[in-house]
Amino acid sequence: MSAQLQRPDAGRPSLYGDRRRWGLVHADALDLLARLPERSVDAVITDPPYGIGFDGHTWDSGALTDGRAFERWTSSWAREVKRVLRPGGYVAAFGAPRTVHRLVSGIEDTGLEIRDQLLWLYGSGMPKTRHLPHDLGTALKPAYEPILLARAPLKATTTMGNVTRWGVGALDIGATRVRDEVRDVVSLGEVVRRWPANLGLVHSPGCEDRGCEGNCAVREIDAAVGKPVSRYFYAAKASRSEREAGLRELEARSTPIFSGGTTPRANVHPTVKPLAVMRWLARLIAPPHGVVLDPFTGSGSTGCAALLEGRQFLGIEREIEYVEIARRRLDHWARQ
Ligand SMILES: C[S@@+](CC[C@H](N)C(=O)[O-])C[C@H]1O[C@@H](n2cnc3c(N)ncnc32)[C@H](O)[C@@H]1O
Repeated sequence: MSAQLQRPDAGRPSLYGDRRRWGLVHADALDLLARLPERSVDAVITDPPYGIGFDGHTWDSGALTDGRAFERWTSSWAREVKRVLRPGGYVAAFGAPRTVHRLVSGIEDTGLEIRDQLLWLYGSGMPKTRHLPHDLGTALKPAYEPILLARAPLKATTTMGNVTRWGVGALDIGATRVRDEVRDVVSLGEVVRRWPANLGLVHSPGCEDRGCEGNCAVREIDAAVGKPVSRYFYAAKASRSEREAGLRELEARSTPIFSGGTTPRANVHPTVKPLAVMRWLARLIAPPHGVVLDPFTGSGSTGCAALLEGRQFLGIEREIEYVEIARRRLDHWARQ
């Protein structure tokens, strides 16, 4: 099935999708957001540029690496996001520890209400440091990413009134409760489901059911606490098969990897998010069958997760090489 709906023509952004459940637009987010109708989206889950000049990529460089400019730019897209969200609709936006204060201020300045900051711990990042003599360095190993949770103002006197009128405004705790393996054992198999926390842990990519790799954050925290911290949410980092599903027809290209060197990959996007994390966010903030928007789609992980959770998806991405990857991945997961 071809996912192309329209061919690009002069002055019109190209649109891909199946007309029913998902759409992906090749465009600049700021242009396209301004053209979307008011109150047309239930949730925004997005992973925008972090303003850190990530690996020299043009989409995260130039003016964006100036803190104040990054904050102003954040406000410019967040203002449109507030306009297109239904009253009470949530935004989950990933950031980097170094620039998240600008992300938060930029979003808050638009009138979106800051509700929480989630931490996604992973422990398998590589330090981007200069190695200096005498075991000196310039950076720590990254082990978490903050995820800002904000909400469009309610348009009802109570939260439940807003949910009834607009379908959004509250977190879906029931859909995101966490199974407690320790209590399961002591309660003889009764499934205990804990209230979800604002902390997510991920195992290292090489961990298996029977044990964890040496550098696994989950293992280290379990050891420090003295019992499994199973009350938190776990997701492995995106595996190669997950990143590349649906891309068989794309030519693999030599791609730099975090640990140094290169490897052939069809999904050349450098910051692919794990579907498990994105699926959990979709369940938490987007109502069943609701519309999830990602203005910075990259290789499409938000959309794949939204589709797998039975939500609709609208994505925007400016770089054509990522659009090609995202539309194939979306087409693949839409058929699962
Ligand atoms: C951090 S990446 C998103 C990665 C994505 N979460 C994934 O799993 O593949 C941010 C994306 O935003 C895109 N981008 C940057 N500025 C944009 C703009 N003004 N309009 C649309 N897309 C933009 C970049 O090309 C990049 O793919």
